[in-house]
Amino acid sequence: MTTSTSARAGVGPARAGSTPAPALAARTRGLRKTYGSTVAVDNVDLDLPEGAVLGMLGPNGSGKTTTIRMLLGLVRPTRGEVELLGHALPDGAGHALPHVGALVEGPGFHPFLSGRENLRRAAAFEPLLASGSIRGAVEDALERVGLSPAAHRRYRGYSLGMKQRLGLASALLVPRRLIVLDEPTNGLDPAGTREIRRVIAELHAAGSTVLVSSHLLSEIEATCTHVAVLHRGTVVAQGELAELLRSGSQALMITTPDVEEGLNVLRASRISARPAEDGLRVELTGTSAPDVLRALVGAGVAVHEATRPHTGLEDLFARLTEDDGPDRGAEIDVAFEAEEELR
Ligand SMILES: Nc1ncnc2c1ncn2[C@@H]1O[C@H](COP(=O)(O)OP(=O)(O)OP(=O)(O)O)[C@@H](O)[C@H]1O
Ligand SMILES: [Mg+2]
Repeated sequence: MTTSTSARAGVGPARAGSTPAPALAARTRGLRKTYGSTVAVDNVDLDLPEGAVLGMLGPNGSGKTTTIRMLLGLVRPTRGEVELLGHALPDGAGHALPHVGALVEGPGFHPFLSGRENLRRAAAFEPLLASGSIRGAVEDALERVGLSPAAHRRYRGYSLGMKQRLGLASALLVPRRLIVLDEPTNGLDPAGTREIRRVIAELHAAGSTVLVSSHLLSEIEATCTHVAVLHRGTVVAQGELAELLRSGSQALMITTPDVEEGLNVLRASRISARPAEDGLRVELTGTSAPDVLRALVGAGVAVHEATRPHTGLEDLFARLTEDDGPDRGAEIDVAFEAEEELR
């Protein structure tokens, strides 16, 4: 069994039935979106637990933005269901959306108004914001994203990073139950990236749920409690980050000079192993680390060290989306499916 198979089997929707269902800030079932013959998103069952910071990962074109747009009611699914803060979309959008702040591609800011004026306009449309509180809320949001010094400048002259910050400020105008950020660090310098990390941590500490898509795996690893990995429009793994990483690490590295003898001992115990640097690499499928060590030490093999190699999110992501490049394959799969649908 390959590690990627076990990672897929260890987490994901199949698990949901066996554990008590957590309260979900967002939930999709069988979500699908096609554009002509392109399947952008297919059969996505996403669970976003309340209070989680869920990182959505996937190569270019894997369907992250399309999924997020459907979650926010900006795009109508071809098929499937979306529930946002307990309300089914599209009918419940009016109840759910005031509690949701979002930063997605192409926010409609006016080029000839300043950042501050744009934000005041956006604030005027917030149903949860009293008109007397608009000025204060706008200044707070500008401060929070570090945009106060440039708030008087026209949006037209903003850099990409400044535009991102303004979009984030508009998501933060009122306290939200759910914040959705599509590639928030896009165009930001390292200081801006750190600020996003801080804002996400603050939102999490305040009890908000956060959904954030990113290509920066290290950022996701540092900020998220949960992860969903998309590949070619489908979810190939989702669950708690710690659990995902654990399920991805199935090997035991043994430092020993007795490589041949070790291999023989393990083979006799039907444990799969192969030579590795300084010793052996043992696969822990169908066995456990204590069993392996007992067998080796019991047979007189000198075990100098035994370690579980750390599986970083980067390794796991690479394995789950192995056959990749940008997700161009999606178009090919999809052309076939579209044909089937027509039949
Ligand atoms: N409006 C559209 N019309 C046609 N095709 C679309 C449209 N929106 C998305 N697609 C296609 O759907 C697929 C998924 O795109 P999507 O933008 O959701 O990916 P993504 O994971 O957000 O990628 P990236 O990391 O580049 O932002 C791609 O093949 C894309 O070309
Ligand atoms: Mg995108």
